[in-house]
Amino acid sequence: MITNTELEYKGNLYPNQVVDYHTDSGKFYFTTDNGVVLEITVLRNSALRFRYATDYNFEPDFSYAIAPDATGGYNELRDEETESDYRIFTSRLQVLVDKKSLRVQISDLEGNIINEDELGFHWEENYAFGGNTVKMSKITQSSESFYGMGDKATHSNLKGRRVNNWVTDQYAFGKEQDPLYKAIPFYIGLHNNQAYGIFFDNSFCTHFDFSHERRNVTSFWADGGEMNYYFFYGPAISKVVQSYTDLTGTPELPPLWALGYHQSKWSYYPEKRVRELAKNFRKLQIPCDAIYLDIDYMDGFRCFTWDKKRFPNPKKMIGDLEKDGFKTVVMIDPGIKVDRNYWVYQEGLENDYFCKRADGPIMHGKVWPGPCSFPDYTNPEVREWWAGLYEDFIKDSGLHAVWNDMNEPAVMEVPTKTAPLDMRHDYDGNPCSHRKAHNIYGMQMVRATYEGVKKFVFPKRPFVITRAAYAGTQRYACTWTGDNVATWEHLWIANVQVQRMCMSGYSFVGSDIGGFAEQPNGELFARWVQLGIFHPFCRVHSSGDHGDQEPWSFDEEVTGIVRKFIELRYQLLPYLYTSFWKYVKEGVPMLKPLVYYDQEDTQTHFRTDEFIFGDQILVCPIQEPNAKGRRMYIPRGKWHNFWTGEIVEGGSEKWVVADIDKIPIFIREGAIIPKFPVQQYVGEKKLEQMELNVYYKLGQEQSTLYEDAQDGYDYKKGGYSIRNFRFSGKEKEVILQQFKDGSFITSYDTFKINLVGLPFRIKSVEIDNEKVPLKELRINGDNTIEISKNFSVLHISGT
Ligand code: NOJ
Repeated sequence: MITNTELEYKGNLYPNQVVDYHTDSGKFYFTTDNGVVLEITVLRNSALRFRYATDYNFEPDFSYAIAPDATGGYNELRDEETESDYRIFTSRLQVLVDKKSLRVQISDLEGNIINEDELGFHWEENYAFGGNTVKMSKITQSSESFYGMGDKATHSNLKGRRVNNWVTDQYAFGKEQDPLYKAIPFYIGLHNNQAYGIFFDNSFCTHFDFSHERRNVTSFWADGGEMNYYFFYGPAISKVVQSYTDLTGTPELPPLWALGYHQSKWSYYPEKRVRELAKNFRKLQIPCDAIYLDIDYMDGFRCFTWDKKRFPNPKKMIGDLEKDGFKTVVMIDPGIKVDRNYWVYQEGLENDYFCKRADGPIMHGKVWPGPCSFPDYTNPEVREWWAGLYEDFIKDSGLHAVWNDMNEPAVMEVPTKTAPLDMRHDYDGNPCSHRKAHNIYGMQMVRATYEGVKKFVFPKRPFVITRAAYAGTQRYACTWTGDNVATWEHLWIANVQVQRMCMSGYSFVGSDIGGFAEQPNGELFARWVQLGIFHPFCRVHSSGDHGDQEPWSFDEEVTGIVRKFIELRYQLLPYLYTSFWKYVKEGVPMLKPLVYYDQEDTQTHFRTDEFIFGDQILVCPIQEPNAKGRRMYIPRGKWHNFWTGEIVEGGSEKWVVADIDKIPIFIREGAIIPKFPVQQYVGEKKLEQMELNVYYKLGQEQSTLYEDAQDGYDYKKGGYSIRNFRFSGKEKEVILQQFKDGSFITSYDTFKINLVGLPFRIKSVEIDNEKVPLKELRINGDNTIEISKNFSVLHISGT
């Protein structure tokens, strides 16, 4: 046992005896005789907030992470005092605060410990910078596992690892390299089938140690600021993730084209090359919705300008591309070229919008255009100015979509790769140094971009993508995992990172398919596309100096495979869009690692590769060359092999065949998977019929289909269509019920229902209690029938 005195000797300071306790509208205050104040706020029955002040005073309560519309409210709250502790009870939790040490223990109402302080809160004065290094240590419970934490390129279960959050431009990063581009200080702990989450909302560099330094201790600390963390109780992981996502927010629905396939490269130019690229997609009939222009479209890398030699008439080009079904996405970086003849620089200078060094001068750092200045996006006035810069840029070009890159901010030729730590920020009226603002700088940039793009593409929906992110950035933008490498290991990393981001409240995410640095061979490219079509954001992007990465850059076999999988993505768009809607509405991650899907099954706690796409499709990428299949864990329950129709019983590892033209895909029994016809881009075809693939199950299952106009905001005024389907299967009978909501009228009138894995022959069909002759329904073989989209009950009996 380490005593307080020993640790104080090492420079750590600890709270002492509690001498004052009072409560004030859902908040509880504990003051110790050495000036520590603990404030516990009950946000919801199973969500609490803990803040610690060290000299009686809290900092102003301000956070960029918290969503303005986060929900609150609880239905029970009481407190109690015993000789040794204070106790707070909600309808789900009890919190004990020890009078002698201020240590906290959180349990459920049966007294099962969910989370408890080891040494608890302690701190160290930071003499070099002022303020404190604030620390928290917790006991690691027996067999505890840890998940979440954003984009960490390591095993999905973080036990035994230490990670740091400091958004960093990590070109060609590697497995285990840390930190990377995101700072999402949120983790999920799981032990004894009880899950909880901790979100340490502190924008300084933060550190998390998951039983790495000491086997039985989990700790987290920050290089400054306040010990300020949120605690979410499950016991289901899904509850924890949803609570965290409720607190930090979800995005609005993107336009559906943003979920199509996107093609990018550093860089496609001049205009002729862009047009050829677009032409090739259509000629080869490979669906694609967006083409990206990287930095080289700009005039000397000046943001909001065009290189008129390379792109003489952007509006015409963007318009022509749009007619052909392509949206153009262009890059905007934070570094503004120091150039007195460049109006963005002039405006920034005149209005004092650029970040300054501690002693006064404007900070200069080198990026693509040479010396640059950096707008202080933490100043609301600067954000408004920045948002306004998009007005003419969008009007003059007809753009819909913007890509914010290098917004850590990345600064070249300095060892720290970023701005100097003494750089000053407004921090929305809480002036501070870059030590505090670094992790949220990119977030505030993309927030301003999002606000501008949203305003100026109205009544369409904006599409914005960012590289740097702090917790909560998901409200503004889609993201990608940064500069990865074309290796098999990076395919593994991309899979883990995207799942991890989804667990961390950030679902709209993908990797540079095929790898950014280096060039994949055809096989790796094909395997990566097979995984990438299941990521919420699906874009091929690569660096210019390593050869081509278009779907046709390899050989015909690869082109064929890539086409087939991109087509599958387009077919699955209604399913994907429905999971996006669930994410927006309820914070349900769009991809679910197996531990999220079935935490009771301890086999899932250390799986990395398999994941659930949406709610009902199990996917597992092939991650090595020359594979004809792989072993994978099939979670409990019965699953239909998507390719062979075979029904497998889960709960064990199995060999699954998947030659180069396949990736293991299984559909949960009872699922109803909607499918579009193949289109070359979203909106190419008027949808005449919706396919519903119904996977038989002996038992019941629910499925949902969400639809709307695919762009615009009518959906916010009731212009959506929700269809809830209830499947119930017996030995010789299937009943499918439909419950509808919303006023959106879909363009199609009928469903093509495909009954997959039916164990009987159809004898008779009743629709809304009326018998319909089979001849009238069958369209294709025995188990495909066509019925009105308005049916309420479909009753199929067999022999
Ligand atoms: C770094 C980004 O991560 C990459 O995607 C981009 O192509 C280059 N910057 C050039 O803009």
